[in-house]
Amino acid sequence: MVSTSAPDSAPSGMPGGEAPHAAGLGQGPFEAAVDAASPNRNLAPITASLDQEGSLVVGGCRLEDLARTYGTPLYVLDEATLRATCQAYRQALETFYPGPSLALYASKANSSLALSALVASEGLGLDAVSAGELMTALQGGVPAERIVLHGNNKSEEELELALAHQVTVVVDNWHDVEILSRIAPGRQSPVRLMVRFTPGIECHTHEYIRTGHLDSKFGFDPDQLEPVLRHLSKCSWAWLDGLHAHIGSQIFEIEPHRDLAAVMADALALARSLGHPCSDLNVGGGLGIRYVATDDPPTIQDWVRTVAVAVAEACQARDLSLPRLLCEPGRSLVATAGVTLYRMGSRKEIPGIRTYVSVDGGMSDNPRPITYQSRYTAVLAGQPLAKADASFTVAGKHCESGDVLLHDIALPQHATGDVLAVFATGAYNASMGSNYNRIPRPATVLVHDGEAEVVQRREQPEELLRYDLLPPHLNPIISKQAFAG
Ligand code: LLP
Repeated sequence: MVSTSAPDSAPSGMPGGEAPHAAGLGQGPFEAAVDAASPNRNLAPITASLDQEGSLVVGGCRLEDLARTYGTPLYVLDEATLRATCQAYRQALETFYPGPSLALYASKANSSLALSALVASEGLGLDAVSAGELMTALQGGVPAERIVLHGNNKSEEELELALAHQVTVVVDNWHDVEILSRIAPGRQSPVRLMVRFTPGIECHTHEYIRTGHLDSKFGFDPDQLEPVLRHLSKCSWAWLDGLHAHIGSQIFEIEPHRDLAAVMADALALARSLGHPCSDLNVGGGLGIRYVATDDPPTIQDWVRTVAVAVAEACQARDLSLPRLLCEPGRSLVATAGVTLYRMGSRKEIPGIRTYVSVDGGMSDNPRPITYQSRYTAVLAGQPLAKADASFTVAGKHCESGDVLLHDIALPQHATGDVLAVFATGAYNASMGSNYNRIPRPATVLVHDGEAEVVQRREQPEELLRYDLLPPHLNPIISKQAFAG
């Protein structure tokens, strides 16, 4: 996974590119070989390498230099890995699906102008779930006709924004229908819609179940599907473009997606029998990634092939013309491109129990460990292959005992100020971050070919006060004057 020199060529799947150092050193926590075609199978970005001093380099940039120049905590995103995953989804869809297709980036995983622009430049569309994500996508240059708006409780303002830009609305419930039937009639063209339903397939980490009904807040229950399709067929303002279902996230099994295809094809047959054009089938996202060495997710190609073949076969079996196949990867598109850099700070040794070492970030920049007990892999950026001969618990700096980023992980001995690199943090870290304890949000730099560009600047402590207002009677200066007067 880690090679001995900085890559000078683009990864495979990129124009004119070869996989950089596909045969890595295979030491430390790293795989023996980089899977550049399916980056979700690696722990680190596909451009990870070592410089002459053995210091970790990503996108041609030495991570220790990035920490020094841009400060810590710092989110680093590797452009080559991002482009490789976009291309992997696109190419696999083109290869394995006999009809038209489109991959939409689920921007809840990490929403920014730069990521919107990058996925758009790779020909992808985008899934937004709020006015904020939608505005980011539009300003980042994602064409409106390639954006869908999700959400289980969309506001009228969010729906207005989608309609104003002719973005497809994924109808999640009768509340959406009710608002749309107020604001949609009388527009120049009918509103493009998809209907989301719960397909009765529930995924756990390593097993799944099928039920008639699911305890989910998202989408129409299966027995509501026909009533809503019948209702919409009478609404002149509605143009039902397709159906949507999403069965879960960080899924390592492929079988549930095969089963999903049959359920969706049945729904497609029903929708078309009721007169809806229904040219799109959106199977959601969910493909898992490698966070720790024991994780073994399927490749993007296997996932897409399974979905594509299953949808094509299910449609053929029902004599349905092929819909356009949409999917919505989030995590598997951006997680592996991300590395978070921290500086090691205070240390507390509890003899016979554990040694805590604290870093300058924590649950505000990565809430996944405290929220889901998620595990990560980390190395010292300056010596990633040094023998990890001691166990440490890496804690954040927040006032919360549970603010621990990595429990009992093996690391080499290190000093205060050393840079820790945590892998696979590109998804659901920045986007789920907070200002808990009034800690400013980190910057994000995009690295490529030895260059680093800030794509989200670091929040400054004084900016945290920008929404605070002090009522005059509480203002210490004014109230002192009033008292004096
Ligand atoms: N489409 C829909 C409708 C979704 O709800 C989601 C994720 C996706 C696509 C993208 O799924 P992905 O490919 O990323 O698995 N915060 C959690 C993950 C929540 C996922 C929510 N929905 C985490 O940090 O693990």
